[in-house]
Amino acid sequence: MFYPIIRPALFKLDPERAHELTFQQMRFISGTPLESLIRQQLPSRPVTCMGLTFKNALGLAAGLDKNGECIDAFNAMGFGFVEVGTVTPRPQAGNDKPRLFRLVEAEGIINRMGFNNHGVDQLVENVKKARFDGILGINIGKNKDTPVEQGKDDYLICMDKVYAHASYIAINISSPNTPGLRTLQYGEALDDLLASIKQRQNELQQRHLKYVPVAVKIAPDLDEDELVQIADSLVRHKIDGVIATNTTLDRQLVQGLRHCDEAGGLSGRPVQSRSTAVIKRLAQELNGQLPIIGVGGIDSLVSAREKMAAGASLVQVYSGFIYKGPGLVKDIVTHL
Ligand SMILES: Cc1cc2nc3c(=O)[nH]c(=O)nc-3n(C[C@H](O)[C@H](O)[C@H](O)COP(=O)(O)O)c2cc1C
Repeated sequence: MFYPIIRPALFKLDPERAHELTFQQMRFISGTPLESLIRQQLPSRPVTCMGLTFKNALGLAAGLDKNGECIDAFNAMGFGFVEVGTVTPRPQAGNDKPRLFRLVEAEGIINRMGFNNHGVDQLVENVKKARFDGILGINIGKNKDTPVEQGKDDYLICMDKVYAHASYIAINISSPNTPGLRTLQYGEALDDLLASIKQRQNELQQRHLKYVPVAVKIAPDLDEDELVQIADSLVRHKIDGVIATNTTLDRQLVQGLRHCDEAGGLSGRPVQSRSTAVIKRLAQELNGQLPIIGVGGIDSLVSAREKMAAGASLVQVYSGFIYKGPGLVKDIVTHL
């Protein structure tokens, strides 16, 4: 693959500009003979999880393809599944730029994008256009200007709209960049949200005559007690899976590095061990009652194996993919 050759040029650009340019190119070549430039023929390594069969255990994490514009291109690279979003009921611009920073020495990223996305209707249109017939996760959230007390309504609106088009739905309550969102991870707010989501999932199952599993995505910045409570709540409400973890607010491991004090969520290698610890603790608590999708700092076969050893059934990458490119997908899928 030629990523090691183009990466230095991409890394000279502003990170968001590099992202836009890459997406433009991927959209341009997708579905044309040029798609062979990014296609990787990888061995089939099927995994069953949440009642679905994934062609392999490695997925693209949410946030890279927020609007579902490049699903076919990521599939061509060999990902076993693609999670698009986070998408919100209405389009929104996100936070002011700059809002995306590389911490190159640490192979980390800080972002405060703030759910910039074209809205759920546009996402559904893009999904309909994709040729992809693999496992597609659709990750949903709330608009910034929806008060957090009414946040539940935004998740239900998105569920209604994406249900027919998703293999699974991810409920994002762990982005640090939407004020108040993370409060939905605790106590009554969580119970209330999960009860409504479960009820709506049952109604939608009847209406569409198919069962679409729901997974909840959590933060790495939770203490033991909070994790135990979340695990208990997920089991009680019969949620189908948990995605651990989102980005961290902790800056301990990047002290002194350029951009370390930017506001937002930190991802990549600096969140690797924390995210693995969360998965381990969750796995103890859940005891196999629901599967864990492990994400956070996976940048090699070894770190993917660590997540599996900690209790993850599937894994996802974002930052590692930015640093290593499609070669990372090949390494992990071939040997995991
Ligand atoms: C720029 C950026 C944007 C992200 N946007 C989202 C998002 O919209 N929804 C979401 O659930 N996670 C989002 N994430 C979090 C990732 O999906 C992932 O959980 C986190 O980055 C840890 O994995 P990593 O270390 O492999 O990046 C984002 C991460 C980054 C770096």
